[in-house]
Amino acid sequence: MTSHTLKTLPTDVDPHNLPKHVAVIMDGNGRWATCQGLPRVAGHRRGAKVLKELLRCCKDWGIAELTAYAFSTENWRRPTEEVDFLMVLFERLLRKELAEMHREGVRVNFLGDLSELPPSLQAEMHRSMAETANNQAVRLNVAINYGSRNEIARACRQVAEQVHRGELTPDSVDEKLVEQHLYTTGGHDPDLLIRTSGEKRLSNFLLWQMAYAEMYFTDTFWPDFDRTAFHQALLAYQNRDRRFGGVGKPALTA
Ligand code: FPP
Repeated sequence: MTSHTLKTLPTDVDPHNLPKHVAVIMDGNGRWATCQGLPRVAGHRRGAKVLKELLRCCKDWGIAELTAYAFSTENWRRPTEEVDFLMVLFERLLRKELAEMHREGVRVNFLGDLSELPPSLQAEMHRSMAETANNQAVRLNVAINYGSRNEIARACRQVAEQVHRGELTPDSVDEKLVEQHLYTTGGHDPDLLIRTSGEKRLSNFLLWQMAYAEMYFTDTFWPDFDRTAFHQALLAYQNRDRRFGGVGKPALTA
């Protein structure tokens, strides 16, 4: 089955039980490329195409929000040439894809400390966020220079500063307030996390926001993650019993 045959939601997926928000850790680009005898960066290039396809799929199938982990605060440890390639790729993609995304009603948002990124990339990011701010069809969040512990520490710092200035009292600090200081404020928490390439960790991604997310791990490398693979992830999600700490659906028999 080619990916194009799945434009409409597959009939075995319940449209009333879809995740509203899917988060993805796009892992395995380098290994995919190495397996093909290609340089690692070829995997990132192909990975970007896969993300675009998944975004279209979310729009086609009625999933409102997609969050992708594109570059972590730890990824600066990679070889300089790879980091430089990724920064140029992000910027080139934004320049090339923004008009189409805007036409398709995509609202683009970036999560992370953008101030450490190359200035020309920062400018493209701010332009993309501003231009698409009123779009409603689907929301794409891209985490770049993002680390969850760093995000939580930053939220604590901002709250502490408000307390210090006398704008808040310590007993008014609750979950809702902390949430308002995260990069993700205003969005929904992810319902489903997908991580490709066989790794089974969160790697400092959305630790606060994924308190109740269902986790789906697949051995498929990210560049091979197509609509059919996404379909499988959704079926697995719909087989989960999400109880959010409660007891779930009442049993029919004692
Ligand atoms: C992880 O695979 C992938 C990355 C660190 C980069 C992901 C970036 C993209 C797919 C480009 C997306 C573009 C935009 C604008 C969002 P890896 O390199 O860790 O693979 P490996 O584990 O096989 O080495």
